[in-house]
Amino acid sequence: MRVTMIGTGYVGLVSGVCFSEFGFDVTCVDIDEAKIAKLKKLQSPIYEPGLDDLIARNHEAGHLTFTTDFDAAVAEADVVFIAVGTPSRRGDGEADLSYVFEAARRIAHAMRPETVVVIKSTVVVGTCRKVHEIIEAERPDVPFSICSNPEFLREGSAIEDFMRPDRVIVGVEDERGEKALRQLYRPLYLRETPIVVTTLENAEITKYAANAFLAMKITFINEIANLCEKVGGDVQQVASGIGLDNRIGGKFLHAGPGYGGSCFPKDTNAFAATGRNNGAPQLLVEATIAVNDARKRDMADRILEALGPNPAGKTVGVLGIAFKPNTDDVRDAPSLVIVPRLVGAGVRVRAHDPEAREQAERLLPGMEWCDQPYEVTEGADAVAVLTEWNIYRGLDLKRMADKMAGDTVVDLRNIYRPEDVVEAGLNYISIGKKAYGADT
Ligand code: UGA
Repeated sequence: MRVTMIGTGYVGLVSGVCFSEFGFDVTCVDIDEAKIAKLKKLQSPIYEPGLDDLIARNHEAGHLTFTTDFDAAVAEADVVFIAVGTPSRRGDGEADLSYVFEAARRIAHAMRPETVVVIKSTVVVGTCRKVHEIIEAERPDVPFSICSNPEFLREGSAIEDFMRPDRVIVGVEDERGEKALRQLYRPLYLRETPIVVTTLENAEITKYAANAFLAMKITFINEIANLCEKVGGDVQQVASGIGLDNRIGGKFLHAGPGYGGSCFPKDTNAFAATGRNNGAPQLLVEATIAVNDARKRDMADRILEALGPNPAGKTVGVLGIAFKPNTDDVRDAPSLVIVPRLVGAGVRVRAHDPEAREQAERLLPGMEWCDQPYEVTEGADAVAVLTEWNIYRGLDLKRMADKMAGDTVVDLRNIYRPEDVVEAGLNYISIGKKAYGADT
């Protein structure tokens, strides 16, 4: 079976490469010539652990090719995936579906009869039906099928998530579509991965409901963290306690500076808009968005407070700019709210991130970049951990304390043990726990 993947963004590239690893012949298409040129040199345009190796292996095995020739790639395919972006529209937060519809129109012209068109982009309910109408209007004489196949990949562990998913969701409207997708996911079926075959609408809603629920779960534990700080609790112990209840589950209960990334902020906004537009307001999701937005600002204020009554002129060393570890992605990262707020208060900010510099440099004017983690601690009045990269976990806290001008660590990811920080002679402010002072 020949697969063509339209869009070599995060979702399209990882999915295309992984389907080629399953042994299918995959062509990845993008209009961005620079991206395709890079891929032809077997270099991934995104940072994702393991992806470069899979690209090289499958290209050399002859399963994986890259092109800007849209029509030729569609014409040779049995299954065409649409994996183009659905960014938030400015102003109303709704998903911009114009790239999806444009791809559908172009597919209609180039496809051969009985092509199965699969929408992988995250799209609001009803979009797959519209894609069907668009293609049918362009080629009323040609039989084809539409499927919905949302993805649940996490950046940083996308390949593992693709190869070992909790489930695969497939929305179909006919047997041809179902058969094609069952065949594509057969390697996972052999591993007993549940494949949920449902309607187009159910598949579309499932994607948003899953992300909205996870965003809500994180926001819930963040609010519990606030309470723990006030009353002398410890959010990590409370999270373990509730997480052991199988109905709740222990995952996605790490309190932190608020969720970011390219998915949760965009998808919660789009889902809330869908609810409003359809007379079914999603009030929990609306509250989640508001609480999460406020939290990022609140985190900056905590760091400012740690600097004392006159933060202007003080120096903060920041560890981590990416929205989470193992990615260079900074979209909607808490750092993009926190750093400008510090800089705006007259604070000198010096930061390190192992991967995000290229993506973040122009977004964070007025911030200085350091090549090494210890460099950010030099002369810092406070050090703030914004992303839980592994290399920060093992830093020598005494060495850090010796280099700092001040004595406070603000750990927004709870990566250190309070005893260790205090033993190094530093004050420790973390999330969902009391503050620990070096002198107490
Ligand atoms: C998320 C979902 O986890 C994927 O299943 C989904 O496919 C993807 O969105 C998408 O829709 O494309 P991703 O954005 O890559 O994946 O990252 P996550 O690991 O889910 O983290 C999202 C944010 O939540 C990060 O800012 C992270 O720091 C934060 N988070 C996550 C917490 O603050 N606490 C947690 O316990 C977990």
